[in-house]
Amino acid sequence: MASEEIQKTSQNYTDAGNEMSASFLAAKERSAQTLAKLHENPAVFRMLTGDRPTGRLHLGHYFGSILERVAMQNLGVNTNIIIADYQVITDRDTTDHIQDNVFNMVLDYLAAGIDPHKTMIFTHSAVAAENQLMLPFLSLITEAELLRNPTVKSEMEASGHSLTGLLLTYPVHQACDILFCKANVVPIGKDNLPHIEITRTIARRFNDRYAKKHRIFPEPSAILSEAPEIPGLDGRKMSKSYGNSIMLSATAEETAKLIKKSPTDSERFITFDPLNRPQVSALLTTAGLVTKRLPEEIAQEIGNAGAGALKKYVIDSVNDFLAPLRERRAELAQDMDYIKDVLHDGNRRANEIANETLNQVRDAMGMKY
Ligand code: TRP
Repeated sequence: MASEEIQKTSQNYTDAGNEMSASFLAAKERSAQTLAKLHENPAVFRMLTGDRPTGRLHLGHYFGSILERVAMQNLGVNTNIIIADYQVITDRDTTDHIQDNVFNMVLDYLAAGIDPHKTMIFTHSAVAAENQLMLPFLSLITEAELLRNPTVKSEMEASGHSLTGLLLTYPVHQACDILFCKANVVPIGKDNLPHIEITRTIARRFNDRYAKKHRIFPEPSAILSEAPEIPGLDGRKMSKSYGNSIMLSATAEETAKLIKKSPTDSERFITFDPLNRPQVSALLTTAGLVTKRLPEEIAQEIGNAGAGALKKYVIDSVNDFLAPLRERRAELAQDMDYIKDVLHDGNRRANEIANETLNQVRDAMGMKY
C-alpha cells in the first residue's frame, strides 16, 4: 500500500528496480491470477483493506490503492475499508489529531469515489468483537514467527523506540481485521505481504484446530497494486515527513507552490531517466499518471524548454485532474454530520458481522455458557 508514513521499506525510487526478489515475483503472479478470477466472478469475493489515519490521503494513495478499491466496488465485489486507528499507536505514543484524521479520511474516500452504500467504512476501535478475536488468534502464532516479520522490524527501527507488544503483534491484529468479515482478497502494498502470510497461517491453524469439519475462516489472497509506485516530488519515497506529496485535499495554489519548490537538476534538456535523474523523472511520472500519458512522451515534448516548463505542465495537469475530486470534497465537507453518519453506519454494520463471527468462534471452541 502506498503508505505515506515514515519510509516503511526505506526503499527509494532509484532502487525500485532491485526489489524483484523471487518471492515478490511469485506474490505478483498470484495476485494477477486472483485479480483475473475476481473479474470473472466478482460476486464471490469479499475485499477488505485499510489505512492508518495518520494524515490526509495523497496522490500515491490514490493511484496505488484507492482507484483499485473503487474499481472493485463498482465491479460488485463486497468491499470493506478499515481505518486502522489502533495501528497508529504501534510506532508513536500519541493519538493527537486522530479524530480529525479519521473524519478527513472518510472525506477523502468519498471524494475519490468510494460509495458508502456499497463499501463499509469503519474503525478498529469501534468494533469490540473484532478486537476480541485477537486472543484466540495470538495463541496460534509463536514469538519466533512474530519476530521474523521484516515489516515489523523496519517499522521498529524507523520509530526509534524499542519494540512494543502492540508493534510486535499488530500483524495478528491485522488478521482480525481481515478474518472477522471473512475477506478473501486483500489489496495491499508489498510491505504488508508478511501480514497476509500471518493471516493465512492463523486462518489455517484455527480451522485445523477448532473447525475441521466446518471451516470458519478463508485463507485470503493478497492483491498487489498494478500501478507503478509513484515517487515523491523530489524523487524520494512519497512521505508526509519529507513534504513531497500532493494531498488530495490541498488547494490548487498549495499544489502549485509545492511543485514549484521541488528540486530538479542542472541539465536543461528534459529526459525520463529514473536512475540518473530521479527528481525530473518523479515530476514526469506524476504528470504521466494524471494525464494517462507516457512520461517519455511528455519529456520529449518539453525537451529544451527545461524544468520551468516541466513544472508548469505538472502543476496544470495535476490540478486539472484533481479539480473535480476537490470540488466534491469541498461540497462533502460542508456537512460533517453526514460524514460522521457514514462512519457510524459502517461501525454498526461491522459490529453485526464481528459479533456473528465471534459467536461462531466461541461455538467452535466450545465456549458456550
Ligand atoms: N497495515 C496497513 C498499512 O499500514 C493498514 C491495515 C490495517 C490494513 N489493517 C488492514 C491493510 C487490513 C489491509 C488489511 O498500510
